[in-house]
Amino acid sequence: MVSVIGAAVSIAIERMSEHDLLEIVEIEEASGLSPWGWDSYHKELSAGNEAIMLVARAAGVVKSRADGRRIAGFIVSRMAADELHVNNVAVRPDCRRFGVATRLLEATFTIAAAKGVSRAFLEVRASNRVARKLYQGCGFRTIGRRRGYYRAPSEDALIMSVLVKRSA
Ligand SMILES: CC(C)(COP(=O)(O)OP(=O)(O)OC[C@H]1O[C@@H](n2cnc3c(N)ncnc32)[C@H](O)[C@@H]1OP(=O)(O)O)[C@@H](O)C(=O)NCCC(=O)NCCS
Repeated sequence: MVSVIGAAVSIAIERMSEHDLLEIVEIEEASGLSPWGWDSYHKELSAGNEAIMLVARAAGVVKSRADGRRIAGFIVSRMAADELHVNNVAVRPDCRRFGVATRLLEATFTIAAAKGVSRAFLEVRASNRVARKLYQGCGFRTIGRRRGYYRAPSEDALIMSVLVKRSA
């Protein structure tokens, strides 16, 4: 799956593999996410068909921003029956604002819809204004709040959800 973003920026959205994990952990650490670490990503990769784990491989302008590294961003989500739970999405700081996260979400929805998913959910730190804007732009709406869901620092999570439609 290759996405062209503007005239000069392109990325390839591909399935994550074990070889990507060192870079994934590096991006995770640079993104202030609650850390999963190598072992958890590796375990999730072995989870079989329920996990949808994608990377945005850097090309064009994004590649030069990524400073020789191969991966601009990643997304980790998991299906359960007809629901999808988006667990983590992060983009290398130098590669942000090129639409990489949006493409990762769209590609995840395409795969999930083909497997019968009809709704996606996620939690986001209430203070994470940037991520909330990203999710709103992808159609997510806030449907609830989990008090004190996050630790270090302690914070509420907003629960967001969107209908996932099968593309025609
Ligand atoms: C949130 C994150 C994944 C967005 O990645 P990205 O590739 O830069 O996102 P996109 O380029 O697809 O942006 C999509 C929309 O999100 C919003 N957005 C993204 N970055 C923004 C910023 N710095 N300020 C305001 N809005 C922003 C905008 O509405 C943007 O659309 P626009 O560029 O057309 O205005 C990235 O900032 C990141 O990795 N943050 C740290 C990790 C994190 O918080 N992950 C989410 C919680 S799990």
